[in-house]
This record gives sequence, structure tokens and C-alpha cells, in this order.
Amino acid sequence: MKSAATSGTADRDRTPSIAVHSTADLEHHMVEKAYARWAPVYDAIIGPVFLAGRRAAAQAAGRVGGRILEIGVGTGLSFPDYDASTEITGIDLSEPMLEKARQKAGTGRFPQVKALAQMDAHDLAFPDSSFDCVVAQFVITLVQSPERVLDECARVVRPGGEVVLVNHLYSETGVAAAVERWFARRTRHLGLRPEFPFARIAAWRETRPEMTLVERTALKPFGVYTLIRFRKEPVASV
Ligand SMILES: C[S@@+](CC[C@H](N)C(=O)[O-])C[C@H]1O[C@@H](n2cnc3c(N)ncnc32)[C@H](O)[C@@H]1O
Repeated sequence: MKSAATSGTADRDRTPSIAVHSTADLEHHMVEKAYARWAPVYDAIIGPVFLAGRRAAAQAAGRVGGRILEIGVGTGLSFPDYDASTEITGIDLSEPMLEKARQKAGTGRFPQVKALAQMDAHDLAFPDSSFDCVVAQFVITLVQSPERVLDECARVVRPGGEVVLVNHLYSETGVAAAVERWFARRTRHLGLRPEFPFARIAAWRETRPEMTLVERTALKPFGVYTLIRFRKEPVASV
């Protein structure tokens, strides 16, 4: 399996030129280091900040139901948001974050959690069409190659299934965009990126005609987070 850390050049070649100012994608080692530091305090500090977005995405995934893959599952804060009819597989790059998720799963309160594994979202170790839904909450802006991770999500979801993303997305123009870029440069070492244009996701979609954008919603109350859903169109039978 080709590791994401060694594929930087090829991935950078795939980065579309988006007509907005944007900071560079985060590097793999930086994210791993940052989340090793976040793990002990993540639930208390970041957990509440992302609650509304995380929950909206888990609920959207739950509506698809069945086998759900959560990319960048982190400390497993979303486990209570899935009901017992689902089967959750969680993967994350960060072993310290996953260890927290394993502790939650070990309480026995979340029988819907079937598997947790240390894995890089750029190289998912699952066969094609393994899941009914793939969900990534606050992850796609942090990975070294968002396009490659989206490709992997599209590969492992079954035709008729969905890929659900939630994130803060970049304002792209005006004062808000300038402020977000300023923060983005200063929060890189924390493994956070408050600046990422929707245009980047839309450009990826252009390369994947089987993936239909079915929802792009700014979530209430303040529209800070955007929920995005793609459906993988069923293959036409001959
Ligand atoms: C901001 S946290 C979000 C955690 C969780 N989804 C939540 O909403 O609380 C981002 C997570 O993505 C993980 N991550 C970043 N890059 C990754 C990659 N390439 N593969 C898998 N997980 C990754 C980080 O380790 C971290 O746990």
C-alpha cells in the first residue's frame, strides 16, 4: 500500500487551482503530532465547539443507516449519535485519539460500534463498496490530500450510498476570508484549519460524475458549519 506520506508530489499535482487565496494543505506529520497533544483534552475543549456539526453529520449518516464508516473518528464523541440499528467502523490516523475512542467503546454503552482501527484516510484498507455511508466530521480540511481522501470515500461507499462531510468552510471573499486566512496560518501547528474553500470540493466533484451533490446546507444557528452530502449513483444495469 502506498503511504500518503510518500505520495505528496503526486497529490500536490492533483490539487486544482482554485481562484481564491488559500493556505497550503496540512502535512501528515504535523497533524499526527497535533492530535497526540489534543487527545487528553479534546473532549473538554474542542468537543463542545464541534457538537452541532458533528451531530448533524451523524444524523445524516444515520438516515442512510447500515454500515457506516467514520473517517477521523477521533475520540469517538459521535458514538451516542448513532442508533443500535447501525454498524459503525471508525478509523483515525492518531493512535492517542483512537485510544480515547476505544475507552468509550469499552464501556459497552455503544454496541453499534463494531470496529476501530488506526488507518490513514488516504489509503483505506477496505474493499470497494464496503459501506452504506462514509462520514467525515471536521477532517477533510486537515488531510494532506483532500482529493485523494474523497476518492477513497467514493471508492468504499456502495452505489446508492452517501458520503457525508461537515466542516467550517471558507468565506472565500471579503473581510471574513482575510480573517480566516490569518487564523489558518496561526493554527496550522494545532492541526486546525479554519479556511478551506467549497470550490475545492466542487472541483473534485467535477472529476467524479458518479457522485451527485445532494445537499450543501449551512447549519443553524449561525451557519458556521456546512453539511455536504454526496450520493454515489447506482450503476445502470444493462
Ligand atoms: C478535528 S478532529 C475531528 C474528530 C471527530 N471527527 C470529531 O468531530 O470530534 C480531526 C481528526 O481527524 C484525524 N485525521 C487527520 N488526518 C487524518 C488522516 N489522514 N486519516 C485519518 N484520520 C485523520 C485526526 O487524527 C483527528 O482525530
